[in-house]
Amino acid sequence: MSNVVIVGTQWGDEGKGKVVDRLAARADLIVRFQGGNNAGHTLVVNGEQTICHLIPSGILHKGKKCLIGNGVVVDPEVLLEEIENLTDKGVTIAPANLSLSEKAHIIMPYHKAMDHAREKAKGKEKIGTTGRGIGPCYEDKAGRVGIRAVDLFDPDLLKEKIEGNLKEKNFYLTQFFNAKALDANQIFDRYCEMAKILRPFIRNTSLMVDLAAKEGKKILFEGAQGTHLDIDHGTYPFVTSSNPVAGSACAGVGVGPDKLHHVVGIVKAYTTRVGSGPFATELLDDTGDYIQEKGSEFGATTGRRRRCGWLDLVMIRDSVRLNGLTSLSITKLDVLTGLDTLKICVAYELEGKRIEATPASLKELAQCRPVFEELPGWKDEIASAKTLNQLPAETTNYLNVIEEKTGVPISILSVGPMRDQTIEIKDPFSRS
Ligand code: GDP
Ligand code: IMO
Ligand code: MG
Repeated sequence: MSNVVIVGTQWGDEGKGKVVDRLAARADLIVRFQGGNNAGHTLVVNGEQTICHLIPSGILHKGKKCLIGNGVVVDPEVLLEEIENLTDKGVTIAPANLSLSEKAHIIMPYHKAMDHAREKAKGKEKIGTTGRGIGPCYEDKAGRVGIRAVDLFDPDLLKEKIEGNLKEKNFYLTQFFNAKALDANQIFDRYCEMAKILRPFIRNTSLMVDLAAKEGKKILFEGAQGTHLDIDHGTYPFVTSSNPVAGSACAGVGVGPDKLHHVVGIVKAYTTRVGSGPFATELLDDTGDYIQEKGSEFGATTGRRRRCGWLDLVMIRDSVRLNGLTSLSITKLDVLTGLDTLKICVAYELEGKRIEATPASLKELAQCRPVFEELPGWKDEIASAKTLNQLPAETTNYLNVIEEKTGVPISILSVGPMRDQTIEIKDPFSRS
C-alpha cells in the first residue's frame, strides 16, 4: 500500500489534472485537500476535454471514489453545475463515487461580492484573483464565522449565520466599497434548495479515508494551485488564501502525515503565471509569445492569458524543500520543441551576491536577476514519444540538468495533453 500526493511546484496550471487523471486508474480514492473553484484542472480523454474545478480529477474513471476534503472551500452553485455537466457527458455522479466533507467551508454570494469589490478598489495594485470568493471564504473560516457543509442541514443555524454575516458584509459592501447590498432571505432560500440536492453527498470524509487506508487502499491526494501561490510560502501577497503545499493534505483531509508516502511535484517545463506578482524569468518578447501560443497558455478557470517565462529552478528547489518532493513530473515538454536555445534559471543574483532560494521580501525579489544556463533546443516533435529512448539527446540533456540541479528524480514525463502522451519512468504508487 502506498499513497501519493500531487502538488504544483510553480504558480499553478502545471498540468496536475492530467497527471492525476492518468494516475487515478491505479488509485482507489482521489481526494482534493485545499483551494476551491479557483482551480481549473484539464483532462483530455479520447480527444474530449473536461475541466474540473472542484470535483477531483479522478472522476472520469469508473469505480473510483472522489472526495472533497474539509480544507476545500466549496461553492455549491459550481459543484451542482459541475455535477450536471459531467452527467451530460455520460459520467455517473452519485454519493457512491463523490463525497463532500461535512466540515468543508461554503462559499457564499457575499464572498464573491467582497472578492470583486476589493479587487476593483485596489485598481492597479490588484492581486488578479479568480473572483470566485476564495479569499473572503477562507477569511471567514479563520475568523470563525464561516458556514460549513454540515450547517446546511440546520436551517435555523444557517439563517442565523447568513443574517449575522450579512450585517457586517453589507456594511462593508455599501459603505466602504460602494457596492450593492445582498438580501439574506434570497440567499437563505437558494442555499436551502441546494442543500436538499447536496445532502446525500455530505459525509465524514476523514473517516472514509481512514477506513480506506486501513483496508490497504491506494489514496491519491490532489493539490490545487502551486507552491509559490501558498499563503505562507508563496510570493505574498500575490498568492491564494490556502496552503497548496503537500503537508496541508493532512489538515485538509483529516489524516496524519503517516498517510503521505510519495510526493510528486508537477513541474511545467517552463514557467507560467496568471494574475499579478513578481516573475523573475518572465519573457516579454517573441519567445514568450511563442511559448504562450504553442502551449495554449490561457487560464482554465478565467480564460486569462498566462504570462510565460523560462524554467526557474530556484522556485523548484524551494518546492522540493517545502513539499518534501520524492519525484518530479515534467509536463508540456513538447511545447519547447522548435526553440534553438533554452534557458534555465539556476540561481538569482541580488546586489552582486548569488542566492539559491526565493527571498521573502518582494522588494528584494523584484531586484533579483536570474542566472541562466543555456542549453541547446531540439527540433524533432516529441509528442508521440513513448519511451525515453525516443527523445532527442537535447531533450534528455534538459531533463538531466533538472534532475541534477534539484537532486530529485523524474518519475513521469508529459509530452502532450492526452492520457497516453505520457512517459512513465517510475510508478509513484510503487513502494521501492
Ligand atoms: P492544472 O491546473 O495544473 O491541472 O493545469 P491546467 O489544466 O490549468 O493547465 C494545463 C494545460 O496544459 C491544460 O490545457 C492541459 O490539457 C495541457 N497539458 C497538460 N500536459 C500537457 C503536455 O504535456 N503538453 C501539452 N501540450 N499540453 C499539456
Ligand atoms: P490550478 O489548480 C493558476 C491565482 C490567481 C491569482 C491568485 C489569487 O488550476 O493550478 P484566488 O482566486 O485564489 O484568490 O487568486 O492565485 N490562482 C491560480 N493560478 N492556477 C490556479 O489553480 C490558481 N488558483 C488561483 O490567478 O493570481
Ligand atoms: Mg489550472
